Amino acid sequence: MQLERIRAVLTGATGGIGRALARRLHAAGTGLLLTARDEQALRALRDELGPGRQAVELVAADLLSAEGVTRVADAAARFPGGINALINNAGHNSPGLFGQVGAADIEAIVAVNLVAPMRLSRTLLPRLSCQPRSLIVNIGSVFGLIGYPGNAAYCASKFAVAALGLAFQLGNASSRRG
Ligand SMILES: NC(=O)c1ccc[n+]([C@@H]2O[C@H](COP(=O)([O-])OP(=O)(O)OC[C@H]3O[C@@H](n4cnc5c(N)ncnc54)[C@H](OP(=O)(O)O)[C@@H]3O)[C@@H](O)[C@H]2O)c1
Repeated sequence: MQLERIRAVLTGATGGIGRALARRLHAAGTGLLLTARDEQALRALRDELGPGRQAVELVAADLLSAEGVTRVADAAARFPGGINALINNAGHNSPGLFGQVGAADIEAIVAVNLVAPMRLSRTLLPRLSCQPRSLIVNIGSVFGLIGYPGNAAYCASKFAVAALGLAFQLGNASSRRG
């Protein structure tokens, strides 16, 4: 798909990679629905991007809550022209020796890196599927290809999200368009 034809939900838009992606996509003419929890940071990013060839909108939402996923879906429904891409970029890590990483940290890593992309993809799939072409991009990591000490839960989550992408690629038309 040509970047100027894409209207994308970008999660984790205020992080390091999210901001870089937003800048590059915006410059290429991509429409953006920016999301993260921190509304102030989202507003600052939108101000920095300025007007573009397509809309730049934002929605503050916690992707770990059902209410947050619904907020993103509602904003996607209102996006001019309808969204035709989802970039699952939001991520979380809490490095440390596995025996010393807290249970809540392990759950947060898996929830942000794996469960949230699955929930959001599933929620937005009907909207993506009604577009002539659409795509879901899951931001992976080299730690989704190798096991790396001090990052066991993160590696596990990134291996799993890579498997999710493979299943989407090999799956039926309702999980892969365009
Ligand atoms: N940095 C690296 O070296 C590296 C290398 C390979 C792959 N990656 C992957 O690239 C992606 C982006 O990484 P990054 O370094 O840019 O991350 P980052 O700077 O830590 O930013 C994380 C982003 O995710 C959002 N986020 C975190 N928890 C959230 C939640 N519960 N609900 C909604 N949004 C949430 C954060 O915003 P709020 O806090 O406002 O919610 C922020 O926008 C991740 O998937 C990461 O695994 C990173």
